[in-house]
Amino acid sequence: MTERIPVILDGDPGHDDAIAWVLANASPLLDIRACTSVCGNQTIQKTSYNAMRIMTLINLHVPFAMGRPKPLVSEPIIAPTVHGVSGLDGPALPEPDFEPLPISAVELMAKVLRESADPVTIIPTGPLTNVAALLMLYPELKPKIARISLMGGGIYFGNWTPAAEFNILVDPEAADIVYKSDIPIIMAGLDVTEKALVFPEDFERIRAVGNPVAKVVAEWLDFFYGFHRSKGYAGAPVHDAVAVAAIIKPEILDSKEYYVQIETTGDFCRGMTVADWYGYYHKAPNARVLTGIRREAFIDLLVEAVTYYNQEEK
Ligand code: BDR
Ligand code: CA
Repeated sequence: MTERIPVILDGDPGHDDAIAWVLANASPLLDIRACTSVCGNQTIQKTSYNAMRIMTLINLHVPFAMGRPKPLVSEPIIAPTVHGVSGLDGPALPEPDFEPLPISAVELMAKVLRESADPVTIIPTGPLTNVAALLMLYPELKPKIARISLMGGGIYFGNWTPAAEFNILVDPEAADIVYKSDIPIIMAGLDVTEKALVFPEDFERIRAVGNPVAKVVAEWLDFFYGFHRSKGYAGAPVHDAVAVAAIIKPEILDSKEYYVQIETTGDFCRGMTVADWYGYYHKAPNARVLTGIRREAFIDLLVEAVTYYNQEEK
């Protein structure tokens, strides 16, 4: 078997973060070295609790640590309209069967990087607070980061304001640090994630797999789709899972390289990911922006991932 890719999962679960972690944990290609939480969809207490419940459900027993309670500069923004008051409303989940480590998310990331022989891929699916803090506190560890495959932004449009996507809007200063870091970035923004739609008939394919994880994933989709259906979507955009798919199944994605800047001020555009379409700044691209996805193949990948959990039942 080829060497597995070492990764750190950093998220604010969140239904789509949860599905991203289910997908990552099922992949034989990944070696998950740690999970960390960040405040975003809900408070840090809630996203951490959710992260630990997900890890318990999927039997992902790797080191886990909590992020800080606030973005770098601004006050938190939360998303109960999308993810419910718990940040992960819907099916009942097991209580965490472990404790978070008594160190911060950033300390844990630094430890993993320091101890790894090979550079590690970071997969952030929430605001970029932890990753930016890591880069500020431990710049010497930058060469130990292979790439950052993140869910965030959108070079055409936003979802929390007309210009800004939620993860970038919550902590634009952090995103600015990450995009200026010179670390290779794969950007799974709204340009692609709004095409990664899981339709109600796909929920049934997932549910029919029948193991406890598959049933929970189908119920997460039921809940998550409730909000999106009310907005006219034909399916649930499982944004965060695309950042994982970009590592384990890149052939189902289209992309284009751009120089992308983060708007940190502005009356209307704070948190916007501004792509230099025409090369006005004569800067080398800093992000591979995902632009398209083979939706059917993405659904097959999710079905395959939940099928992995059949073996847990044996
Ligand atoms: C992003 O915002 C969150 O609500 C989701 O978990 C996803 O990471 C989509 O804009
Ligand atoms: Ca998220």
